[in-house]
Amino acid sequence: MIAKVRHRKLKGVLQQEFGSLKETHLVRAPGRVNLIGEHTDYNGLPVFPIAIQRDIAILFRARKGPRVRLRNVSEHFGAREFSLESVVSPYPKGDWGNYAKAAAQALMDRFGHLSGFDAVVSGNIPMAAGLSSSSALVVACSLILTRINEISIEPLELMDLLAKGERYVGTQGGGMDQAVCLGGQRNKALKIDFSPLRLSPTPVPEHWQFVIAHSLVVADKSGEAQEKYNARPVECREALTRFRSHSQFQPDSQTYSELIARVPVETLLSLADEVLEEPYRRRFRHLVSEGPRVEEARGAMLDGDLEKFGRLMNESHTSLRKDFEVSCPELDELVETCLAAGAAGARMTGAGFGGCAVALCEASRTPFLVESLEKDFYRSRSIPSQLTEYLIMARPVEGASFIY
Ligand code: GLA
Repeated sequence: MIAKVRHRKLKGVLQQEFGSLKETHLVRAPGRVNLIGEHTDYNGLPVFPIAIQRDIAILFRARKGPRVRLRNVSEHFGAREFSLESVVSPYPKGDWGNYAKAAAQALMDRFGHLSGFDAVVSGNIPMAAGLSSSSALVVACSLILTRINEISIEPLELMDLLAKGERYVGTQGGGMDQAVCLGGQRNKALKIDFSPLRLSPTPVPEHWQFVIAHSLVVADKSGEAQEKYNARPVECREALTRFRSHSQFQPDSQTYSELIARVPVETLLSLADEVLEEPYRRRFRHLVSEGPRVEEARGAMLDGDLEKFGRLMNESHTSLRKDFEVSCPELDELVETCLAAGAAGARMTGAGFGGCAVALCEASRTPFLVESLEKDFYRSRSIPSQLTEYLIMARPVEGASFIY
């Protein structure tokens, strides 16, 4: 369900913009927080996110013909209208309408001609914060299109299709966000493996609390952060190619996961030190250490070992900061503040270059953690709205679904 006030607002705007509420439906798609396994997905290595209670909700109605008309309850997002031609040309970079177009283009490339819809969007996932508000919008729009066009598609295929489809907006992302947005489960984290896509739901112990804290640095993935992000897949591929060109090192291992499966990590790290130059050496170091950390972290969660999970989160952050170079001073400070307040672990989450950190603590310690963050991180900075906008007590929720 969604909150009554929000529902009322959606209905009000739809009625005002498109007339009657007859034959309308409501879909929701959650954001996500990644617990560990960062920048691994597009390298074929696992990730370990949860879908969270913040979401995109869309009230919609089918239309005859190819037109899509979009409105947003927030005045920051202007009205968008376009037609579902076989090639949908994008709006300028960064335009919110591009996420709807991305979903449409991906589904049309797979299923051919589609008819359109009228819709009103309401979102409460902080934007450009590493919590996947953009993929939630892509996923929600794709569900609308499958429903009104009576398309049936297996969830795993849709996850894959949308992961590739979202590259329409110009980001060379992997498949984590769309998979967890669709496949999330209540009270469970999802280990996701790629090529082929596999989901392993993992119960999150009841007394573990993941706290999401915003660094107040906007990481707009359609702006400068997009260029920095897109540089990483290129560097990672090049690092692997260069490593493999030293043919004495596992010539049969074509991918990072094959290398990790065949060679002990310590050996890979020391070989990389010998043969790779910067920045390839560091990118390679991050990947071959982060992949195994995900597996270990899942084991720690299954064992209820909070301390170990926290330690792995800390190692992940150090690796992202030093070797992958996607953190920033504010994120580092946030992580330090969480640890000083007694969190078992903390790390940046999502693409980085700003956005959020995620910390793990015993649920009973949460008030103290929140208080410390308020006092030691947020108080000296001016926050434009309430602290609850920047501090989220993450709850693992179900993936995207129709409410009616
Ligand atoms: C973004 C991408 C994901 C993933 C993360 C980093 O959120 O969309 O596919 O690469 O960054 O882990």
